[in-house]
Amino acid sequence: MSKALINTFAKKLIAWHGVSGRSGLPWQNNRDPYAVWVSEIMLQQTQVATVLERYPRFMKRFPTVKKLAVADIDGVLAEWAGLGYYSRARNLHACAQAVVTDFAGKFPSDPLLLEQLKGIGRSTAGAIAAFAFHERAPILDANVKRILARLFAIEGAIQDKVVNDRLWALAKELLPTSPQDMPVYTQALMDFGATWCTARKPVCLTGEKKCPFIKECQANLSDQVLLLPQKTVKAKSPEFDCNMLLIRSGNSVLLQKRPSKAIWGSLWSLPESAWTPKAPADAGVHMSVKALFALTLPGEKSSAHMKLCKALEKIEEIKHVFTHRRLWMHIWQTSSVKELQFANPDLKWVSLSQLGRYGLPQPIKILLQGLSLARGDDLEN
Ligand code: ADE
Repeated sequence: MSKALINTFAKKLIAWHGVSGRSGLPWQNNRDPYAVWVSEIMLQQTQVATVLERYPRFMKRFPTVKKLAVADIDGVLAEWAGLGYYSRARNLHACAQAVVTDFAGKFPSDPLLLEQLKGIGRSTAGAIAAFAFHERAPILDANVKRILARLFAIEGAIQDKVVNDRLWALAKELLPTSPQDMPVYTQALMDFGATWCTARKPVCLTGEKKCPFIKECQANLSDQVLLLPQKTVKAKSPEFDCNMLLIRSGNSVLLQKRPSKAIWGSLWSLPESAWTPKAPADAGVHMSVKALFALTLPGEKSSAHMKLCKALEKIEEIKHVFTHRRLWMHIWQTSSVKELQFANPDLKWVSLSQLGRYGLPQPIKILLQGLSLARGDDLEN
């Protein structure tokens, strides 16, 4: 292990940031832990360009942790619509409530306490502690793992516990000595991984820019830059089918609130059947209203209802890729002469002009927009 690099790394990286790092982002130079926390959660799986657009809107609607804690979860989900990974929005809401009740509305500065809160992992806890409290807490997201695995030529799959522990130990060792440097250092690490030491086109290989670590980077010296970090090969995620009921009546559409623990938990979607392992693509061209009602509205006595509905038409097959599975959604459309009433309280007729008030899964939102069920701006606010 190169002691010289360990001793000089933070200084060099901060100098790099002064010239080539990102600055002027709305969440930078802000020590309000609430503002830092919201930005870090939003940035977890969303591109900076999108966050630049959505973060100010979110902060305007929920300017303090208390306002977020007392907000209605549907309002939070609606504000989050389009950003994906909705568990982040549900966790934000639950976490805000925990901060208010357990910490008197003030985020703790200790990364170990931050990590106890919903939706805050070890690396995000480190980032919040560093940005908001100048704590000497390391971060280790995927970008930082890549930087360290390359600089120190760390072999072995980064998912391995032993490798992961080693990377955390290194991340700690490399921290700047002065707490005052923690925000700029942490941002520099993130920026360096996101823009220079990238997975496929690191600047040392494209030759566009001169990496400040070119002479010390063990991966570069041994010509292994693209081989590190090593990853375990992922099996292809399984594929499923599900049938969805799109039923319209006049200016309304029937939506169903999804269970909170499911995929797209607590969002409003179309009634759907259980998922089944994917069948060949040409299966399921026809379906009766009776069969679809039985699949998507189980427990409802629907025979009287069915007479009021038009024949089904399959209008769309949408493929949606989740982290661990792929789903083919088969959308069946019908209309009824009046708004049918159901026993399940999670079913609700929603006027098209009101759709914007509901958090909808992104593909369903796009579907409804595409069908001109609602004007685009109806769905946005
Ligand atoms: N990703 C996570 N946190 C970030 C930050 N503070 N700046 C840029 N990208 C990030």
